[in-house]
Amino acid sequence: MASSATIQRVNDTHRWWQRGVVYQVYPRSFQDRDGDGVGDLPGILDRLDYLEWLGVDAIWLSPIFPSPMADFGYDISDYTDVHPLFGSLADLDRLIASLHARGMKLMLDFVPNHTSDQHPWFLDSRSSRQSPKRDWYIWRDARADGSPPNGYVAAFGGSAWEWDARTRQFYFHTFLKEQPELEWANPAVRAAMSDVLRFWFRRGIDGFRIDVITLLGKHSAIQVAPDSVVIDPAVADDPVRASQARTAQVWGDEPGTHEVVAAIRAVADEFDDRVLVGEVYLPVERLVVYYGSAGEGIHLPFNFQLLELPWEPQPILEAIDRYEALLPPNAWPNWVLGNHDRSRVASRLGEAQARIAAVLLLTLRGTPTVYYGDELGMPDVPISRDQERDPFGLMEPGQSRDPERTPMRWDASPTAGFTAAEPWLPIGPRVAELNVEEERSDPHSVLHLYRQLLALRRQERALSVGDYRSLGAESSVMAYERTSGAERFLIVLNLGHEPARVPLAARGLSGRIEVSTRVDREGSAFDDDFVLGPDEGIVVRPAIRAGRTA
Ligand code: GLC
Repeated sequence: MASSATIQRVNDTHRWWQRGVVYQVYPRSFQDRDGDGVGDLPGILDRLDYLEWLGVDAIWLSPIFPSPMADFGYDISDYTDVHPLFGSLADLDRLIASLHARGMKLMLDFVPNHTSDQHPWFLDSRSSRQSPKRDWYIWRDARADGSPPNGYVAAFGGSAWEWDARTRQFYFHTFLKEQPELEWANPAVRAAMSDVLRFWFRRGIDGFRIDVITLLGKHSAIQVAPDSVVIDPAVADDPVRASQARTAQVWGDEPGTHEVVAAIRAVADEFDDRVLVGEVYLPVERLVVYYGSAGEGIHLPFNFQLLELPWEPQPILEAIDRYEALLPPNAWPNWVLGNHDRSRVASRLGEAQARIAAVLLLTLRGTPTVYYGDELGMPDVPISRDQERDPFGLMEPGQSRDPERTPMRWDASPTAGFTAAEPWLPIGPRVAELNVEEERSDPHSVLHLYRQLLALRRQERALSVGDYRSLGAESSVMAYERTSGAERFLIVLNLGHEPARVPLAARGLSGRIEVSTRVDREGSAFDDDFVLGPDEGIVVRPAIRAGRTA
């Protein structure tokens, strides 16, 4: 499809996960009700009024299951219960019911690639080579010299193989040695994990975010093992990207993955109106394959491009067009600005441009996912070495993900209304200005901008499910429009810090500014002479004019 073409492929029957906006809660850090310094489900229940007021449609909770917490819940020891730290199954049932009563949805995190080394399945598997669960995990003999089967490196550093002295074999782990990898080629593993999904779907869970879904089809790659991994010199100096490259280069995105994904999708399809979102850090042409060609993939392979692209108009518009053009028929796009693994948008782009990013996220075509606290403009919080908790940071200095996982700020008190105790991670600086209570009463706040954009998106079909068309970029400014029938919105974003004109292709329209990152401009008239302020983004409702060609 030509890049200038108007793009819309899903027409009438939009599902909740297409129309709506997802909000990611990192449960340890949202709200602590029981006073232990760690967030919990009752705490989340206490904050549903806020989420409804904000105007999000679905919540995705990072893992809440029993876990030794070696990787803060991404090491699960029981897939069908709730960790006492977070509450109980009864609390989760209450959360499901309260959200549904508000017309909202609840998504959980499904971690199929690995369990905890304390999961009964793994304890059984490692107990003996004759264990019926031995082949639920990936066990291999040492090489003749006693070294690991190959040179694969774990994503957090060190070998991807861990020696088990009792049964005298190595097991495979992409992440920590406490996260042994399941063998999805084994039908018994598939059956057990399918039952996990059914357990939650029957309880009313509306969908899952699936952790490292691209790693599930590793079987053949494990057999054909290179001794060493060659890293692209362009990323070698950047430890995070180098470790991602190691993982991807070695065996990520194996062809067999898609067959596993299809099996997971088939389980979701046993139930009405559920959604599967997947963590897919891949180039876009490989990313879109995760949709499947005929509905056999996941509904929303996370599109992380806004986390990676240079913050410049031309590359962003090109990336949008390319992504849109590569989407398979009936595939629905999605966009992400932040998550629990990446530096926060306010720190990556600076406060002023984080507002522009909010306008972009909430006016693009596709389901947005908002990371908790980004709606306040929360920055990464500097964490001293002795306060660091993330195993990635503890293994590779400088790689800690703690800065983006700090507690939500509800008010200006020293623990930000998050807890009555010592918070598990520090609250960080500037709590007096960056907190919900303060920002609710300030019409210039980032929070108000988010709320306004969310309300407009919900109210206007053109913005939630309408067509997208690029209107090009000039100097620091990019423009596009969203349309649905006769309804039209023009979005113009200045990604620079100097005043700038609207791109030529976006001229010839006059109208009213519905939203501006500069509040004093809202309600003003927009026309060809309009000059964007520094770091200004606007959403314009053009006056309907006869004769303009779309
Ligand atoms: C995903 C999660 C990350 C976790 C890893 C291992 O990338 O987002 O937080 O450490 O998987 O489960």
